[in-house]
Amino acid sequence: MAKGKAASAFFCQSCGYESAKWMGQCPACREWNSFVEERVVTGGSGRSTNGRSAQAGRMTGTVQTAHPMPLSEISMQQSERVLTHIGELDRVLGGGIVSGSLVLVGGDPGIGKSTLLLQACRELAAQSLSVLYISGEESLQQIKLRAMRIGEFADGLKLLCETNLEAIEQAIRDTNPQIVVIDSIQTMYSEQVSSAPGSVSQVRESTNIFLQLAKGLGISVFIVGHVTKEGTVAGPRVLEHMVDTVLYFEGDRHASYRILRGVKNRFGSTDEIGVFEMRREGLAEVKNPSEYMLSGKPEGASGSVAACSLEGTRTILLEVQALVCQTSFGIPRRQANGTDLNRVNLLMAVLEKRAGMQLSGCDAYVNLAGGMRITEPAMDLGIVMAVASSHKNRPIAEKTVVFGEVGLSGEVRAVSMAKQRVAEAAKLGFTVCILPEANREALKGDLPEGIRVVGVKSVADAIAMI
Ligand code: TYD
Ligand code: MG
Repeated sequence: MAKGKAASAFFCQSCGYESAKWMGQCPACREWNSFVEERVVTGGSGRSTNGRSAQAGRMTGTVQTAHPMPLSEISMQQSERVLTHIGELDRVLGGGIVSGSLVLVGGDPGIGKSTLLLQACRELAAQSLSVLYISGEESLQQIKLRAMRIGEFADGLKLLCETNLEAIEQAIRDTNPQIVVIDSIQTMYSEQVSSAPGSVSQVRESTNIFLQLAKGLGISVFIVGHVTKEGTVAGPRVLEHMVDTVLYFEGDRHASYRILRGVKNRFGSTDEIGVFEMRREGLAEVKNPSEYMLSGKPEGASGSVAACSLEGTRTILLEVQALVCQTSFGIPRRQANGTDLNRVNLLMAVLEKRAGMQLSGCDAYVNLAGGMRITEPAMDLGIVMAVASSHKNRPIAEKTVVFGEVGLSGEVRAVSMAKQRVAEAAKLGFTVCILPEANREALKGDLPEGIRVVGVKSVADAIAMI
């Protein structure tokens, strides 16, 4: 039981705001009815329960006199990185796992977080690294069942089913592994904190301890975090501030592909994505996402067009679908799947005003096939062409790819990295590329073989091509 003097405070369960008394609405995040009373321990263990003092003391573990240093005197040992040899994961991590780093992996239940991390553990153990996988959710037998579907495991991987933080800390200190995986921070609890597992205080305390272990012993720690229905890691936002890297694993539960996205990374860029496919024998890397996204694109159907988008430094081709039909009620229905509805409404207004299309009495449904979510402006032209094609009920020529940003006066504006986009389209066997005229001029003569580029200046020009 807790030593020291126990007091209680109220914590907002959505952002972690602390208050001495209960409040109906959180003044920090404006959430209603989110305050829960939790006991906090003052004194006793000397360990901070609110995470404030931990930041200062975490590097050393003990209190010493602080010595500020000039930059020039800081020795630069190359921060060591370990490759998992799962290329898509290494890329999102910024080129492998940094020793002593804390990585949070968030995602919906059943999306494949445990599978991904178990596969990473397998690869790491195969490089004779010592790996400790701690699960608070599944029994050893359940993990073994999953492991058997994935393949053979080296003996460097040790498993532990435990939720008690003090026991886990002891186990980590005893086995001294190089990599630790904590399968779900929400199941972990510390005896020092008397509130229930998954509450703000528990999650914060647990993360704090792993932070100290990671920095103090140079262990890389992966933490799995559950996601609330709002799409953020359950429990406090503070979790995201404490860790070095935050990755989200997302995807449509009904489609088999999954996307790993970096949202924060102290050791690399955040605009990389990794694409995986869930198979019977675990997650497989998808090295060429465009081919994957375009598979199943109907031929000769109106309202369907291939568009080219950019995710980080990767070009991804995907199919934009639109269905436009006469509305049967007074107010037309508009729906967007995988893209921003406001943008779709805006683009339809542009079509109406600048290209003379009668859309105000039409329902419209726009969908990015494959379940991708993309809000890049370069998708505009694809959406416009798909809507126009469906409205006119005339298909867009086969093997045509489009990209470009559309402005309010109906002009088609240049986008970045046009050359890469055209190259990707040519690689996949597209023969015509409709792109902003300004991009075509800049590209002049610098084109891959087998593809013809057509520059357009306005949406009217583009629609005339249908
Ligand atoms: P899991 O990794 O347990 O998800 P999370 O930890 O994010 O909750 O993945 C569970 C899903 O993945 C489950 O619905 C079954 C599926 N799956 C496969 O399709 N193939 C496999 O080889 C494995 C291990 C899981
Ligand atoms: Mg799991």
